[in-house]
Amino acid sequence: MKKFLDLISEEMKQAFEASGYDKELGKVTLSNRPDLCEYQCNGAMAGAKLYKKAPIMIATDVAEKCKDSKVFLSVEAVPPGFLNLKVKESFVTDYLIQMHNAPKFGLDMPKKPSLIILDYGGPNVAKPLHVGHLRSAVIGESIKRIIRYAGHNVIGDIHLGDWGLQMGLIITELKDRQPDLLYFNDDYQGDYPKDAPFTISELEEIYPTASSKSKEDPAYKERAMEATFKLQNGVRGYRALWDHIIHVSVADLKRNYQSLNVDFDLWKGESDVHDVIPGMVDYMKKEGYAYISEGALVVDVKEETDTKEVPPCMILKSDGASLYNTTDLATIMERMREHHPDRMIYLTDKRQELYFEQVFRCARKTKLVEPETELLHIGFGTVNGKDGKPFKTREGGVMRLEALIKEINDEMYRKITDNRQVDEEEARQTAKVVALSAIKYGDLSNQASKDYIFDIDKFTSFEGDTGPYILYTIVRIKSILNKIKEQGGAVEGAVLRQADSDAEKALMLEIAGFNAMMETAYQESAPHKICAYIYELANAFNRFYHETKIVAEENEEKKSGWVALLLLTRDILETCIDVLGFAAPERM
Ligand code: ARG
Repeated sequence: MKKFLDLISEEMKQAFEASGYDKELGKVTLSNRPDLCEYQCNGAMAGAKLYKKAPIMIATDVAEKCKDSKVFLSVEAVPPGFLNLKVKESFVTDYLIQMHNAPKFGLDMPKKPSLIILDYGGPNVAKPLHVGHLRSAVIGESIKRIIRYAGHNVIGDIHLGDWGLQMGLIITELKDRQPDLLYFNDDYQGDYPKDAPFTISELEEIYPTASSKSKEDPAYKERAMEATFKLQNGVRGYRALWDHIIHVSVADLKRNYQSLNVDFDLWKGESDVHDVIPGMVDYMKKEGYAYISEGALVVDVKEETDTKEVPPCMILKSDGASLYNTTDLATIMERMREHHPDRMIYLTDKRQELYFEQVFRCARKTKLVEPETELLHIGFGTVNGKDGKPFKTREGGVMRLEALIKEINDEMYRKITDNRQVDEEEARQTAKVVALSAIKYGDLSNQASKDYIFDIDKFTSFEGDTGPYILYTIVRIKSILNKIKEQGGAVEGAVLRQADSDAEKALMLEIAGFNAMMETAYQESAPHKICAYIYELANAFNRFYHETKIVAEENEEKKSGWVALLLLTRDILETCIDVLGFAAPERM
């Protein structure tokens, strides 16, 4: 379906052409003076030079031609030559009716859908999730849903960090604590126990202990590196222990991501490409891409146009061990082989920007991807506390994601039960749903690349640019519709009517912008555009609500038109929050 603004521009272009001017001058934009008009066209200003005419003369000619327009209610030529536009109520209503009848409210579907692999989440096995992991999960989940809504295919892959030194560290610490475990007996040939010799809480304690020991004690680190080596070379007992670590850890991760309403299509990890690395390395050597530099195997990736230094991409360390780069390149190779995607998108902290630049260049140069395969890194900023420094617990420690979610849930529960008699169980449930909107909207409403301040008071507020405000608006609409139903009013089959008031028209105009907004959100992988849109839409709705006595209206036809408008507003808001990755409760 054509976009609303494009239809208006087309009408304006015709008027320019009919007046003898270049029709390209007729481009219409949203008004930057909403007090004066709804839309504007500055084409007469641009045409003045071309036609050696005062802009106001051009504007007046064009306005004259719009007299009988089906689109414009008014076209005003104002000095020095602006065209201030208002559209007809009937034109907006017709557009909204079409939107209502079209799939996805008139968002055009691609002729040939792309296949996109989205690499997000990226947690490291056995390390607890902290607030930094929140962004990759929350933004990634939304981008995945945007891609699907836009009609493309997407595979979300968690890309677990499950193969590096951290695994060797855990194994080493376990060996020190429980040296008699079967896994460490090289002579043992039988089966290993089904159950892990540790719990998730032990695991989460073991890793930091081992990590700090290795920093102080070089011999300990040496042993951890050896354990990593043995694991990667398939020593049976080590592999069996590793299986346990993955199992226990993944079960915990799944629980955590589920509480965030985040889910992955693939649970692959760095370990999955272990076996294809030697073949990839041989290929890079044979084709002459990789060479030895100071003992390490590297591929040059600098380009003549570089303004900053882009160091070579290291493929193997001098001891032959693979690196983060190596697994990422091998993963690209495998993804091409298995799925042949049109695009791969990676979501990480923006401090990995240069790293991905190197990896992408290397993948292109070594032809692991097709020339037309798009590789995109979306780097996000840091989550800070109110003091502007990375978010910490009150005691100054790293904030665990679970603790953070609990804090917001509790705060939300407090707000919901404040001064009210509510069922305990229902209030807990509602608090959870609303808290998730607070966390996600708080993150997603910022442009991803920017740092933001995690402000619990602000995020959980029912007023202002917040998730709870959006949910509150949706719940308000639902409750009006319920009241009308209780009165015996018809809700299904209601038909939109022309707007009666400015507030109603303003709401309709907001709705009309949906498909253009969603297309941009897809093209720019930008969930914050959806947040900005629903904030404006919710504001427009609330203004209409405060000015209109909907439930008490006696004119049934009028009331039915409003019901239709409420339904459409609700559906669009709910579609948007679903794409953002959260939902609204029935009541709150
Ligand atoms: N595990 C990594 C980290 O914690 C993030 C992984 C991102 N994805 C990737 N393909 N490198 O930094």
